[in-house]
Order: sequence, then C-alpha cells, then structure tokens
Amino acid sequence: MTTTPPTPSITRAIRGRVLHFLHDPQFHEDAYQYWEDGLLLVTAGRIVAAGDYTSLASRIPADAEVIDHRGKLIVPGFIDTHVHYPQTDIIASPSPGLLHWLDTYTFPEERRFAEPEYARAVAGFFTDELLRNGTTSAVVWSTVHKASADALFAESEQRNLRMITGKVMMDRNCPEFLRDTAETGARDSADLLSRWHNKGRLAYAITPRFAPTSTEAQLAACGELAKAYPDAFIQTHVAENRDEVKWVAELFPDARSYLDVYDRYGLLRPGAFYGHAIYLDQDDRRRLADSGAAVAHCPTSNLFLGSGFYDFHQSDANRLNVTLATDVGGGTSFSMFRTMNAAHKVARMGGYHLTALRMFYLATRAAAEALGWSNRIGSFSEGCEADFIVLDPQATPLIARRSGRSETLEEQLFAFAMLGDDRVIDSVYVMGEAVQVPIV
Ligand code: GUN
Ligand code: ZN
Repeated sequence: MTTTPPTPSITRAIRGRVLHFLHDPQFHEDAYQYWEDGLLLVTAGRIVAAGDYTSLASRIPADAEVIDHRGKLIVPGFIDTHVHYPQTDIIASPSPGLLHWLDTYTFPEERRFAEPEYARAVAGFFTDELLRNGTTSAVVWSTVHKASADALFAESEQRNLRMITGKVMMDRNCPEFLRDTAETGARDSADLLSRWHNKGRLAYAITPRFAPTSTEAQLAACGELAKAYPDAFIQTHVAENRDEVKWVAELFPDARSYLDVYDRYGLLRPGAFYGHAIYLDQDDRRRLADSGAAVAHCPTSNLFLGSGFYDFHQSDANRLNVTLATDVGGGTSFSMFRTMNAAHKVARMGGYHLTALRMFYLATRAAAEALGWSNRIGSFSEGCEADFIVLDPQATPLIARRSGRSETLEEQLFAFAMLGDDRVIDSVYVMGEAVQVPIV
C-alpha cells in the first residue's frame, strides 16, 4: 500500500471489480483498464481517480463514505444512442414490417403526446425504465409535439440525468394530426433549443424523422438550424428497410443515395446519429466516416421488424463511428445486454465475431466519443461525471453458474451480454449518488 495522504475533498469511495475503456478494443492493444480489486474515488459527483484498491486506499479520508461492491463489476453507465420514449407502451406490437408498424401502432400512439400530462407520465416511466436497465444517458426521440420534448427534459432534469432529445420534425407522408410545417417545425425546435440545450446535463437534438416524412423545405430548415446551432446534436433514420430505401429514391430522384439526401442539407457532421444504416454503399460509408457522424446500430429492432443485418465487416473497414441502441419500441428491450445479445448474433450471421469487450465499449465510451462527451461520461477518466452501474455476476442461478466457469474477463462479460437483462443491474449511480431504481 502506498502512503499518499488522504485527499480531503473525496467524499465517496466505491470498491469492486472496476472496468472502463480508453479506446476501441477492436483497434487498440491497451484499450481498457480493469482492476479485480478496484476503487473509484468520487468528489462532488465526479471521478477523482480509478485504480487498484491497494494503490488508492490511502487517499480515502476518514470521513468518506466507503461502499463495498466486492465481487461485483463496476462499469460506466450505459449510453443508448437511439430510443423513442413515446413508443414505450407499444413495444412488442406485432407487424409485418416498418411502414405498417409505423401506420398501425406508432403514429396513433404518438398522437397522444399532444397532451402534456400524458407525455409527462410516460417520460417519467421511461426514464426510470432506462435507469432500471443501467442506462444513464440516452439520445431520445420525442414526438412532433413540443410538449413531448419538454416532458422528457423535465423528467431527466428531475433525475439529474445527462440526456438528449428533440421534437420530431415531419411535414408530409404522415397523418395530419402529427404534421408540422417547415416553418413551425423550425420555430418550435429553435424554441426548445433556446430553453433546454446545454441546460445543466441536457442537450438538444435536431430531429427530422426520416427523409420520406420531410419536404425539401423542411430538410433545408433542419440544415439552417444545424448551422445556427453548431453544437446541437442531430438524429434521424437512414437506410433501415428495403421498401423505405426504394421510397426515398422515388421521392428524391436527384439524390445519389438515401444518405446523400441528408448530406445535401448539411446534416452529416460530428454529433449526428444515424439510426440503422443497413443499406449503405461504399461511397455512403466513406462519407459517413469522413463527416464524423455516428451510426446507431439497433439490432433488436432490425431483427424484430425484419429490416436487415448491419454489416460489421464494412463498418470496421471504413472505421465508422458505430454505437449501440435499443430503438424501443421498434426494438424489443430496454436492456443493453439484450441489445448486445442481438448485436452479437447479427454480426455472427455476417461471419463477424463481435467480442463482449467491444460491445461493452460500444455501449459506453464509443457513444461518449460520438457525442463529443468523452471528457464527461462513458469512462472513469479523471473529471468524468460519476455515472456508473454495478453488475452482479450472481444475478440469477444460471448466470451465477456460468460466471463461476468464466476464466477470463471476456468470458464474464460475454455471459452478461448473452444471459443478462435488468436483473443483472445491482445498483445505479448518477453523479456519484446511488439511484433508488424502482422495482416494478
Ligand atoms: N423510421 C421512421 N420512423 C421510425 C420509427 O419510429 N422507428 C423506426 N425503427 N424506424 C423509423
Ligand atoms: Zn428509431
């Protein structure tokens, strides 16, 4: 044990097996740090240090709270980069595919978010459900209604979460009751931006639903907004489904590709999240990589709606900024473990082995990097906000048995990824404070 004197400002020390990532394990040798008997030192909601218990213990002041999670694994809170909160109550709706599913379940449900009290109630349940699943940050979709974004921001603020959302913009090819216009969509978005963007831990995403539901005028307005707010996030869908891709080609005959529609309006840049990105060609992938935009890979949704398989070989060959997302309610689970499970199998179908280490990286640091927030969340680097979760290798009898046989970190993480769900989440901390996760 070293003799470093206690650091007086440290208020909390959390002991357990500690893992976080510095780089992508697919491309770097020393991509992660792991301490079997590890310690996190926290002050004022931020990480002061992470390391070996023996080398850090002397820095714990006598009056600090020491929390013992030995035997459990502490990792940064998960970051879900594409999830629709208004679709919480229509998750698992049977449908033959995306466009039918949108018309039959999604749009009628989203209509209800015109009612602020309804929006607030669902937003509250949704944020608790994220936390119950160990997701401490997310890039969230609201509906076309301004009040729906207000509701999600308010519920996130109440829980002190680092969250992003935006009001959906769509001015054609959708029911009248969900339609804005190029003008009102831009005005409402600008109003929300002025009130919520960078307010505490919150930030705004400019949110055109997808190319088919926006006129050229609206896409141009999105581009103008993006220019006016250079640090705003952007989120949309791209190349998710074959019928949708065909439709976009008909609607935008001059565009080189679906992705090119967005590019023409200045919507490809760092901080832009493109959901699905299945049907891309080589030029699209190169352009995506060069632009610094990110892919939100949504494997449970892509399987559920029969949309297709994300190509990890091509993704890696072009060094795409890929992240992991649930896409609830097209996606079938709030759990990032279930999402990893599906991601692994989708990759396998393409002859690609997606390791558990990589999947944990994708669900934490990769998302933080894509957000430009790697100095804030997604790892235990000094100064990061102390959002972290505690995973229980004994969570269920079967997980306990498999954990008992795990000889490597990869095997333990893989057991979580293949067998895990909300039951694995033992505790959740937000800004260093334990969250009372409601047990439903
Ligand atoms: N494309 C346009 N809107 C949606 C949506 O709500 N979910 C999914 N999965 N794809 C979409
Ligand atoms: Zn989506």
